[in-house]
Amino acid sequence: MNSESQVDKTRLPRHIAVIMDGNGRWAKAKGQPRVFGHKNGVKAVREISEASAELGIEYVTLYAFSTENWNRPKLEVNALMTLLVETVRREIATMNKNNIRLNAIGELDKLPGKSFKALLDGIEETKNNSRMTLTLALNYSARWEIVEAAKRLSKDVKDEKVQTENINEEIFSQYLSTHNMPDPELMIRTSGEQRISNYLLWQMAYTEFCFLDIFWPDFTREHLYKAIIDFQSRERRFGKTSEQIIS
Ligand code: FPP
Repeated sequence: MNSESQVDKTRLPRHIAVIMDGNGRWAKAKGQPRVFGHKNGVKAVREISEASAELGIEYVTLYAFSTENWNRPKLEVNALMTLLVETVRREIATMNKNNIRLNAIGELDKLPGKSFKALLDGIEETKNNSRMTLTLALNYSARWEIVEAAKRLSKDVKDEKVQTENINEEIFSQYLSTHNMPDPELMIRTSGEQRISNYLLWQMAYTEFCFLDIFWPDFTREHLYKAIIDFQSRERRFGKTSEQIIS
């Protein structure tokens, strides 16, 4: 029996953020090149996407390529970009069947032309789907995103569209690439690393973290259920006392 029946469907996180880590180590442990790990990581992407949609999660955001990942060997970067194109193209039909909308955040126009195009096509072809939004963070870094938001906001101040004294957290959030999503309530990171690595820094102010001691290609829907069950057992206080939460 799996753990799905123990998930309280009335208290699901609306948004789950994921750092898919450990593909390289997974491959190395099998005596294979790193790219083999990334290819197998795609299976886990499918697993978390389908299981989340079936449960009723509205948003899943996957860290697929960080700005820092450009520093990897050229061969690996190229392989990751090719994998992205192939995966997006191959999965569009399944996403449409499952009513999943593809979305992407990050400095997307700096991706290789083919990857950028495949991504835009995938986003366009799934734009009317409404069950779940699957966002890929690509060439993404949270500090870059915050700086971009600050730049665009200051332009709007200069153009007198926004008054400085009216700027608050809600207005600032509107300038982030996640402006149309709720903040993640749960963040899952695999591979045993316990960091947030420049991921959704603004949005994760109150997020519950779940660090798993498995490599990403080994991630299954059972890990998702367990992470949600763990999340549901925690008390989210947002700075209040336990008594205030209960009453
Ligand atoms: C981290 O493992 C993983 C990545 C940098 C890439 C994630 C990409 C995929 C799962 C495949 C493509 C995804 C999509 C959505 C098409 P690592 O390489 O940092 O592993 P290591 O820490 O063991 O070296």
